[in-house]
Amino acid sequence: MKLVHTIQELQLALDALRVQGKKIGLVPTMGALHAGHASLVKRCVAENDVAVVSVFVNPTQFNDKNDLIKYPRTLEADCNLLESVGASFVFAPSVEEMYPEQDTRHFSFAPLDTVMEGIYRPGHFNGVCQIVSKLFLAVNPDRAYFGEKDFQQLAIIREMVRQMNFPLEIVGCPIVREEDGLALSSRNALLSSEQRTTALNISKTLFASLEYAKTHTLAETKAWVEHSIDAVEGLRLEYFEVVDGRTLQTVSDWNDSDYIVGCITVYCGEVRLIDNIKYKE
Ligand code: PAF
Repeated sequence: MKLVHTIQELQLALDALRVQGKKIGLVPTMGALHAGHASLVKRCVAENDVAVVSVFVNPTQFNDKNDLIKYPRTLEADCNLLESVGASFVFAPSVEEMYPEQDTRHFSFAPLDTVMEGIYRPGHFNGVCQIVSKLFLAVNPDRAYFGEKDFQQLAIIREMVRQMNFPLEIVGCPIVREEDGLALSSRNALLSSEQRTTALNISKTLFASLEYAKTHTLAETKAWVEHSIDAVEGLRLEYFEVVDGRTLQTVSDWNDSDYIVGCITVYCGEVRLIDNIKYKE
């Protein structure tokens, strides 16, 4: 496994492999890697000849500067994990390398990016599209891997690839959970052990709502999830939206779509956690 810090070094190495006909996979990350990332990288390793993992805490996607400062940075541990799962390259550029000048490009994929996170984190998806498009141009991968935990992000990146004709395949990978159900997230590292127990109520409520949904309307199920989260001391619901899995627009009846997903964002203390559940697929 090779650790590289510049686009030029990465491209030189990848060009040499590409002319040999090697397929290149990319897993974009912001580091602080966990088993969820490991599962993306394992899939990337299995499906490609070369697996590139980028580790870059992208400043342009943080609308809250405190969040950017607090974001865990653990490159050495990340490299150890990536080596153990068979990554070929770790691309860990500096901010100056990725943004030698301010990125003034404006991405808009309405209505996908004007709902949910788009409301609560203005500018977030613009920053995500800025960095992901730069990574696609730098790496020129055949496939790129993203987790379904960031459900809205995945839908927007698919749309960006479609609209901008990036010649690559986007591979969405299922959420990886702790044994007790908590969705894996780099932010879990910021939870105290007490908060970790409290946060478990998020996935528990979503799973229980699958059962509840069988005998209740969509509106009743939505209200039940909202009340269940509100009832937990230490959790603060930002939103719970039940949406069409492709358009991300709110649905109001279980018969409105054949692909229905519940997307939730909850604060556990200061830590913002997201999760989702598929009611219909
Ligand atoms: O999902 C993430 O970790 C980030 O949003 C991504 C895709 C690596 C872009 O910085």
